[in-house]
Amino acid sequence: MNVAADSCFIGQGSEMVDRFSSASTWERADARWPNHEQRTLICTRVSDETHDVRTFVFSTADGQLFSFEPGQFMTVSAQIDGKEISRCYTISSPPTRPYALSITVKRTPGGVMSNWLHENMKAGVELKAFGPSGVFTPSSGPALKSLYLSAGSGVTPLMSMTRAALDLGLNRDIVFVHSARTPEDIIFRKELAALCGVSGKLRVIHICEAPGNKADWSGPVGRLDLELLMEHVPDFRDREVFICGPAGYMDASRKMLVDSGHDASRYHQESFNFAETVECAEQPACAPAGQAGYTVRLARSGREFTMDASQTVLAAARKAGVPLPSSCSQGICGTCKTRVLEGSVEMKHNGGIRPREIEKGMRLMCCSRPTSDLVLDL
Ligand code: FES
Repeated sequence: MNVAADSCFIGQGSEMVDRFSSASTWERADARWPNHEQRTLICTRVSDETHDVRTFVFSTADGQLFSFEPGQFMTVSAQIDGKEISRCYTISSPPTRPYALSITVKRTPGGVMSNWLHENMKAGVELKAFGPSGVFTPSSGPALKSLYLSAGSGVTPLMSMTRAALDLGLNRDIVFVHSARTPEDIIFRKELAALCGVSGKLRVIHICEAPGNKADWSGPVGRLDLELLMEHVPDFRDREVFICGPAGYMDASRKMLVDSGHDASRYHQESFNFAETVECAEQPACAPAGQAGYTVRLARSGREFTMDASQTVLAAARKAGVPLPSSCSQGICGTCKTRVLEGSVEMKHNGGIRPREIEKGMRLMCCSRPTSDLVLDL
């Protein structure tokens, strides 16, 4: 039973908001799926969202419930043309519906994984995935009033947050501004309209770059700018901003907000550029055997390999044929987060780990180099 989630129904007002914004709310001891653990998912349903976007719904092979924070992503892996390909996808379903988990994927020209999913994934097909990860969640900025900004398939983590907030009956003050190329490209359009009917405090504004074939499009045409924002969300400076979309969109929006006086500490953006997620980095050359100075032991699997300090732990593990969860390989996404049980590393990350996680002994393997022998919780 989802005891922690059930407790969200107790209390009113800010107490309920705090619970929505607390990572502990979403932790269920009986169902936690660590992000270093790869499991098998079974596709239960595929549905078309737009002409090039599909939602893939999964359950676990062993019947376990899903536990994650709204806004998190997971790394899925598949054998494609004889190569293991991994990609990060944000979860579009809310944690309040723990029997299923969905990702919503846009088919991108030349995109290896997105095309493979669109062509091969159907009910009954299995997929490997590492547990949910990421810090782009309501717990990074608890607030009574939020502004969700998204473009393209960046809508997915914000959809998870919106669905979760409404499932919990929070009646949160959310303004959701989504940008799309044309009206035909708007993802979750009908559902968002329906959710507005459920909560009077949810407002959704769609902005289209062009009216497309919908002659009856009466919404704003163009790109998100200060004039549009002032017109539709005049109190935007009072809101906690969560933004997800292509890097250019996020950069421009951030500048617009900062220039117009929005408090930068109340701005949160997805930390990896999911739209351009690329294959896992190629294995860098390993140091000659004679230079291998440190031993790395994986406590759970009992595997062991040697490496020197010129490599990251992730690169050395790959070279040794030891699979570790990873995605961005740049210290951004948090997928490779692992507890160091013994020994020490030097880590230079790019925001993929929280200070409190570092205090608890977690490190990102893609940007950590050993300074002693290591024992890892893997
Ligand atoms: Fe993304 Fe390490 S793989 S932080």
